[in-house]
Amino acid sequence: MCYSRRFLVPFIWALIVAAILLATSGVILAQRAYSNIGRTPTDEEIRNLGIIVSPGGKNLPPGQGTAKEGAELYAKQCAVCHGKTGEGAVADKLVMGSPGNPHQGTYTDQDRHPIGFWAYSTTVWDYINRAMPANKGGTLKPDEVYALTAYLLYMNGIIKESDVMDAQSLPKVQMPNRENFVPAKPVWPPDPKKPSWY
Ligand code: HEC
Repeated sequence: MCYSRRFLVPFIWALIVAAILLATSGVILAQRAYSNIGRTPTDEEIRNLGIIVSPGGKNLPPGQGTAKEGAELYAKQCAVCHGKTGEGAVADKLVMGSPGNPHQGTYTDQDRHPIGFWAYSTTVWDYINRAMPANKGGTLKPDEVYALTAYLLYMNGIIKESDVMDAQSLPKVQMPNRENFVPAKPVWPPDPKKPSWY
């Protein structure tokens, strides 16, 4: 394709001007102080959000909590979205089964949110620590995250109400659905008739 110079030259100039405008507006935006939204996170919040807890419990910080303590926190900070007993309000249902009576059997597609479905108790800690409450992720203290994790494990029938959760005890909690996941195995060469997770 061939364009005449009469068209190309003004077009290139227009591009250059647009690029300069875009670049300078970026600088102006970057320098503007955000005075009307949000706030600077505290050092503690940044440190907390940076923790990644492994399935085996690596990086779990010191601290502890029980289901009783968790129940109070849950009522104040979680029930508004997840329902009074974790049965789900506007947000995901977090509880299936009941204390002393874990959910038995399969999980349907709709049932993949109650924490009894999860493979590792430590992931529950990591998730709550990082992301919940949804509008204030990263603000909970380690003791509070242990207590909330204990409460949800208790409500799902996985631990006892008096069990103390800390960096040693939490990784030892056996999740009831642990063995029901199919490990992903890479298949080479790929077989179009068989999905790669077989
Ligand atoms: C403002 C509403 C809100 C509040 C308050 C809230 N959550 Fe959530 N929560 C959500 C939403 C929305 C999701 C789904 C997020 C997604 O799928 O990305 C979620 C997901 C979760 C999950 C994962 C469920 C799953 O398997 O998908 C857990 C566990 C959880 N919340 C725990 C808590 C705890 C504990 C608290 C209290 C400290 C809390 N939430 C407070 C809205 C909320």
